[in-house]
Amino acid sequence: MSEVKFKDFGKIVFFTGAGMSAESGIPTYRGKGGMWEKYNYEDYACQSAFDRDPEHVWEFHEARRQAVADCEPNRGHQIIAELVQGNENVSVVTQNIDGLHQRAGAKQVFELHGSLWRVRVDALGLIEENFDVPMKTYQHSSGAYWRPDIVWFGDHLRSDVIQAALDKIKGCDLLVSIGTSGVVFPAAQFPIEAKLKGATLVEINPEETAMSEIYDVCLRGSASDMLASML
Ligand code: APR
Repeated sequence: MSEVKFKDFGKIVFFTGAGMSAESGIPTYRGKGGMWEKYNYEDYACQSAFDRDPEHVWEFHEARRQAVADCEPNRGHQIIAELVQGNENVSVVTQNIDGLHQRAGAKQVFELHGSLWRVRVDALGLIEENFDVPMKTYQHSSGAYWRPDIVWFGDHLRSDVIQAALDKIKGCDLLVSIGTSGVVFPAAQFPIEAKLKGATLVEINPEETAMSEIYDVCLRGSASDMLASML
């Protein structure tokens, strides 16, 4: 049972990673059964792979969209969405691209690494939501391939999203990190920004992580159970 309770704080940021969606059946990236154990990201999740063979990248990306479309938000997503509901002082900064926070009803979600459900054509300055499973076509009418709007390895994060997320993180009095291994920067750095401003930091993760030592409280369990214990 957690001593730290949401009701004792005024401004809360939920900082989430792949472990947030593990209970929904979506594989994490690292650890046993992780995505990067099975797939070499240089072949599927970087701009050079897309430039080399967009159809090959879309095959992988299409499969991920299908897999996620078949999954449902879990109890942890619902708890967060209920806390965010209509409360501008509660927000979500996520590394996840699955859109499950939004499907659970959460507003104020900042997607640091983009979304499976957005596509773009950089040369035409086009970006749009697309929930078709399967995609009707991988090419825009101009003939250019749609590019998944995901921050791939080697990409820069969108500065407008970073700035908006950091404004929330630097202004909160409680940051709850859920299901992230804390090894991918600059996102891994963000909880430190909250700590420097005096926020209370809670880590929810069944395992110790690279960043565990910065947290005031570490709840060693699954996202749903540990979030429920903070109500
Ligand atoms: N509840 C909470 N945490 C869990 C659960 C669960 N049920 N199951 C696993 N975890 C934890 C694991 O212990 C691990 O620490 O979730 C974490 C998942 O770590 P990663 O797979 O590294 O995911 P993440 O930290 O989100 O990766 C960051 O790396 O590949 C890039 O862009 C990708 O956004 C991703 C970034």
